[in-house]
Amino acid sequence: MLQLLRLLQDGQFHSGEALGAELGVSRAAVWKQLQSLEAERGLRFHKVRGRGYRLEMPLVLLDEASLAAGCQHWPISVVEVVDSTNAEVLRRLQAGQSAPMVVTAEQQTAGRGRRGRQWVSPFGQNLYYSLAIRIEGGLRQLEGLSLVVGLALAKALQQVGVQQTALKWPNDVLVEGAKIAGILVEIAGDPADACDVVIGIGVNVNMPAEAEGIDQAWTSVSAQLGCLVDRNALALKLGDNLAHYLERYLQQGFSSLLDEWQDNHAWQGRSVRLSAGDRHVDGRVLGVNASGALRLEVDGVEQQFSGGELSLRLRDDS
Ligand code: BTN
Repeated sequence: MLQLLRLLQDGQFHSGEALGAELGVSRAAVWKQLQSLEAERGLRFHKVRGRGYRLEMPLVLLDEASLAAGCQHWPISVVEVVDSTNAEVLRRLQAGQSAPMVVTAEQQTAGRGRRGRQWVSPFGQNLYYSLAIRIEGGLRQLEGLSLVVGLALAKALQQVGVQQTALKWPNDVLVEGAKIAGILVEIAGDPADACDVVIGIGVNVNMPAEAEGIDQAWTSVSAQLGCLVDRNALALKLGDNLAHYLERYLQQGFSSLLDEWQDNHAWQGRSVRLSAGDRHVDGRVLGVNASGALRLEVDGVEQQFSGGELSLRLRDDS
């Protein structure tokens, strides 16, 4: 089916006959595959008598060969459909494959977000990218690591032309207050000793505005640039920036990137509410500290917060 989709990804009309000839199958077989693509992948085709078939929205499919050729940092593989690329990388580590490695997918059926949320992951539209790295000698600052990943992601987005990216602690990437990308870091092994860290990154790339199931303001790379975006080019830029920033982080620690992170900080000086379950703290954002914890001024006194389960919102009066 993916072969057929590659022929149709340009969004132009292709006749059933030409598609069948290209794939060495009958027109009826083409029709059957198109029906499966609609039913199983949620894609929609226009069918016009005398002209053939065309994808309602053109796609840029991931191309494993060009990703592998363009990425010198780690092996990268593309799977068509998976529950979650983070889960897939954790399974591969468990099965003895070693870090570093990257798994990307065209679609996730159970994409995982932070704080137990679902990450909406339709076929062929976004980037679902999980990188495993090995950390020797214990992970002192998971917080700092995930902030550094946010910085690398923001830089990659800037390099493909997305202006005005800003980082929301701990690691969302926003554009004018709307979320464009999120990060979920998971650990395999003992965080106090040698362990593998799985860095899962989701970027809204070509997802159309009418996409359903997202309960917060969001945007996409294509909405920002006004055109269909090459997901392969973005994945390669992301890899380059991750390699660069992670190397600096592992050699010099988060403190060496603190100023750069704060230069990209969305809510510096703003009034916010920090929540953990039904407990809240209201304060003014002072920035982050050298380990990546959030610094808040609460009732005139500085307090510092860290932890993956925390959620931050702007207060109405800020
Ligand atoms: C968030 O809630 O902001 C984090 C979203 C992380 C989503 C990415 S998509 C690739 C990787 N696989 C997953 O299941 N989740 C992460």
